[in-house]
Amino acid sequence: MRAPMPNFPRHPHSLVQLLREAQELQGWLPRTLLASLAHELGLTLGQVEGVASFYRFLHLRPVGRWRVLFSDNITDRLLGSQALMADLCARLRVRPGEMRADGRVSVAPTSCTGLCDQGPALLINQHHVVTRLDAQRVARIAEYIESDTPVAQWPAAWFRIDDNIQRADVLLGTAVAPGEALAAALARGPAAMLDEMKRSNLRGRGGAGFATGTKWELCRNAPGQAHVVVCNADEGEPGTFKDRVLLTRHADLVFEGMTIAAAVVGASQGLVYLRGEYRYLLEPLRELLQRRRDAKLLGPAIQGREGFDFDIDIHVGAGAYVCGEESALIESLEGKRGTPRIRPPFPVEHGYLGRPTTVNNVETFCAAAHIAVQGGAWWAGIGTPKSTGTKIHSVSGDCERPGLYEYPFGTRIGRILEDCGAQDTQAVQVGGPSGVCISAFEFGRRIAFEDVPTAGAFMVFDRSRDMFEVARNFAHFFAHESCGFCTPCRVGTALVVKRMDKLAAGHGSRHDVDVLYELDKLMHGATHCGLGASACNPLRDTIAKFRPAYERHLKSLYFEPAFDLDAELSVARQVTGRDDPASHLETAT
Ligand SMILES: Cc1cc2nc3c(=O)[nH]c(=O)nc-3n(C[C@H](O)[C@H](O)[C@H](O)COP(=O)(O)O)c2cc1C
Ligand code: SF4
Repeated sequence: MRAPMPNFPRHPHSLVQLLREAQELQGWLPRTLLASLAHELGLTLGQVEGVASFYRFLHLRPVGRWRVLFSDNITDRLLGSQALMADLCARLRVRPGEMRADGRVSVAPTSCTGLCDQGPALLINQHHVVTRLDAQRVARIAEYIESDTPVAQWPAAWFRIDDNIQRADVLLGTAVAPGEALAAALARGPAAMLDEMKRSNLRGRGGAGFATGTKWELCRNAPGQAHVVVCNADEGEPGTFKDRVLLTRHADLVFEGMTIAAAVVGASQGLVYLRGEYRYLLEPLRELLQRRRDAKLLGPAIQGREGFDFDIDIHVGAGAYVCGEESALIESLEGKRGTPRIRPPFPVEHGYLGRPTTVNNVETFCAAAHIAVQGGAWWAGIGTPKSTGTKIHSVSGDCERPGLYEYPFGTRIGRILEDCGAQDTQAVQVGGPSGVCISAFEFGRRIAFEDVPTAGAFMVFDRSRDMFEVARNFAHFFAHESCGFCTPCRVGTALVVKRMDKLAAGHGSRHDVDVLYELDKLMHGATHCGLGASACNPLRDTIAKFRPAYERHLKSLYFEPAFDLDAELSVARQVTGRDDPASHLETAT
């Protein structure tokens, strides 16, 4: 079986994209297709299956002609997504996660789809997003699926995705003509543009906050010829959707920022890693790239500069949060499982195909383009000395006006709550599940790397919400997204879920809460990448700040023995179905 897959060369490095394209044509990935692909690429069937089985959006079994995925972020739940999914399953006579016997349909939950400001949302066959679900919409979706009505004939309004820009500052509110920022950067020259970046003190917007000028300098100075610029558009952190809007409204600026980075570091190849949930953006983005080529803003001799050749290609992710971690992302770009690499060496020296690579967030590239136009000193004059410029926040949850809010760094959390119409707020989860949970007495704190850092999510919870359930949703998210490579995270996240579910069922005691503390300590220093290291952040914060939410779930107060490693490992074996002893867990204890 050989499927026509026109967009990518038949090379092992394209494996994830070839699998994705084959599945778009066939609906799933039969073994015969995998075998034929393995043969063509000179790989073993085991290698191809190993990659295909890693990604949630690649299916080794049929999933039905209609594949419905409900976004399962906590903000979708607040809006009633669980009841809506149960309703759709009942109407279609299908159990969640299973395909109906006639092979027509399957319905399942998925991680956040990046539409928290207009949820509850779902994906149909991954290409089509339905926003603002309600009971009426769900009933009609069931009818359309039963009658096999093509999606093109469904009401267009269902697929409307709003940008919801509620507060614009310099990034969202200043128009830059295509080519303007690039011309400014090229007029300065690469070295002077790098100086501007360092003067701006811009720090990466993907979460870690590494200085962008320093990263570009390290990449520029790294030995090797074929440097690479990668745009991290994986945006998998639940509650974050700013990159979706930037790629919808300001994609020219994102590509321009990438091209400026290419001029500085000396790259000829650019890659965008677009999360699978944003598949619907692929065609418009490819068309824009073509327009930029036609305008000599990409391709050979950009803006007439002989020797400055740079082009951008887009790879689409396949449903793995860990692929947002830059080294896992590079593995995925190379057609492999998204397992984070051991570092050093860092991507700036040894990245995509071993070449020096700078990986930056979508918002970082936008900021770089503005810095090219206005200069580094202008950017450094906004925000605080340690956190320069503005930050875009994806605001969702219990507030009147969810959407994007851009503020200079240093803005009070309380100010954002006032602006978005939040009332009676109990807590804000800043930076998503891997970020920090802020309680009401901290609303005077400021968004800044030196106070409350963030990659962009701002989820609001009012006093009617159970913060234990919020933390439990996040615990399930991390257990689901753990890539399984290292034991502390694979086993630890599963143990956390087990304890949280036990508490939720009313069978837990204080001992379980203590064990959650212990697990946090064990996992924090022992995991291979940031996913495992931050997996317990929401637990730690909510136990410390919202202890009564946990106490309400306790069975009774009775004595239990202290942390018993053997018992924990036995639970771990049951949960993970693995026999290997949790060696890291043992060592750490
Ligand atoms: C589990 C995990 C997921 C991540 N997801 C993203 C993401 O979706 N987008 C992003 O830009 N950075 C993400 N990061 C951070 C990247 O590893 C990297 O620091 C970032 O892309 C660098 O860009 P910046 O310097 O512009 O911030 C993630 C990190 C971890 C550990
Ligand atoms: S910490 Fe978790 S996600 Fe990261 S490598 Fe280990 S198992 Fe994978």
